[in-house]
Amino acid sequence: MNDPELVSVAPTCRLCAGPVREWMDLGRQPASNAFPRPDETGAERFFRLAVGICADCTMVQQLEAMPTDRMFRADYPYRSSTSDGLRRHFEAVADWLRDTELTDRADLVVEIGCNDGVMLGVLGASGIRHLGVDPSAGAAHAAMARGAEVQVDFFDEISAATIRAERGPARVVFSANTISHVADIGTVFRGVDRLLTPDGIFVFEDRYVADIVEYAYFDQIYDEHFYLFSVRAVDAMVARFGFELVDVARIPIHGGSLRFTVARPGARPRRDSVDRMIEEEARTAIGEYDTYLRFARQIERVGADLVALLTDLRDAGRRVVGYGATSKSATVTNFCGIGPDLVPFICDTTPEKQGRLSPGMHIPVRPHAAFADPYPDYALLFAWNHAEEIMAKERHFVAQGGRWILYVPHVRIV
Ligand code: SAM
Ligand code: TMP
Ligand code: ZN
Repeated sequence: MNDPELVSVAPTCRLCAGPVREWMDLGRQPASNAFPRPDETGAERFFRLAVGICADCTMVQQLEAMPTDRMFRADYPYRSSTSDGLRRHFEAVADWLRDTELTDRADLVVEIGCNDGVMLGVLGASGIRHLGVDPSAGAAHAAMARGAEVQVDFFDEISAATIRAERGPARVVFSANTISHVADIGTVFRGVDRLLTPDGIFVFEDRYVADIVEYAYFDQIYDEHFYLFSVRAVDAMVARFGFELVDVARIPIHGGSLRFTVARPGARPRRDSVDRMIEEEARTAIGEYDTYLRFARQIERVGADLVALLTDLRDAGRRVVGYGATSKSATVTNFCGIGPDLVPFICDTTPEKQGRLSPGMHIPVRPHAAFADPYPDYALLFAWNHAEEIMAKERHFVAQGGRWILYVPHVRIV
């Protein structure tokens, strides 16, 4: 493993061209959602998963980018609707948008990265004018089956201009867990600029870097999460693209996320939440390099502890199964070198992942039914962001003597 202090790559920030100081190298990593079939493992593509912070605008960002057409393909297997918690969250978002912003019959909402229509399906069912834009054809077709209208495409300034010409301006542009994925984020903002009405809002939700640091969620760092957002860095970023950050709220999704509300300058009042959170980030040094160096050391420790535990359990003849073939698990398994010798398989409810191998380390992914057939001694919970939902569902596993292994913020058995 690399000593972050010895790494000296100094590329420039994708947003402000300031110097980016690398603080962690998580090694050679695959596309986190590319699950090869057993006969396809030779075609995998890897990149160096390294993260740094811009010394000028403080945006935390990766130093190398996995090409987008490698990440978001027709067979992209992620489906938002596999989690009851996410389904409830996005139903609430749809209700909120319908009741507060999309009150006129003419109003249009465009969703960037609608995936399987977990949010848009609800708005579509309410008769709201809408369009999803998502390049992953399989997910987009699932959204269409829910009654949502979707354009299979990347959202950028070109597709946005076409949408505007064909459908008129959008009062709301919404996106969840997608904006941070786009390294060339300027094209997204130029697209929103073409599309949004003068008083419209661009709302996006994404993971919060302060929560990632506080709880050592290092596995939230993977190819798709090109940027890790703080309020200060997003405030500067949206201003650079001619917008204003008018509100920010914490939401309890994926271990800690933020909902950013962006408008044209002066179009909406700027709420106190923005400056309050920027001050809190200054107090907790969330824009400072040293904070991330400490985080990097904690990551190294967690990785070493997890491998030691799994090795001890294997040597003692205990059975361990992975639970949830999450994107996060690609980072954990490839960074730590955890393969089928330590974790013989991962169970997952997503049909598109079953029968395939985990990216990079090639741990077989099996249907959920394999979990209880028979129960293992330990389950390594890769889907820790859905812990409450999963542990409630799997009460019987614990009742008959099984135990969960968790690894963030530190390795432990519960
Ligand atoms: N919004 C859903 C959620 O929060 O659960 C899905 C999030 S999923 C992690 C990211 C989605 O964004 C994928 O379905 C992917 O195909 C899509 N995506 C990636 N880049 C995009 C782009 N430039 N424009 C539109 N969608 C994009
Ligand atoms: P995510 O962490 O990116 O949301 O992915 C969650 C993964 O975990 C997804 O592949 C589905 C899987 N999963 C299960 O296998 N069982 C469950 O009960 C839940 C909630 C998720
Ligand atoms: Zn910068």
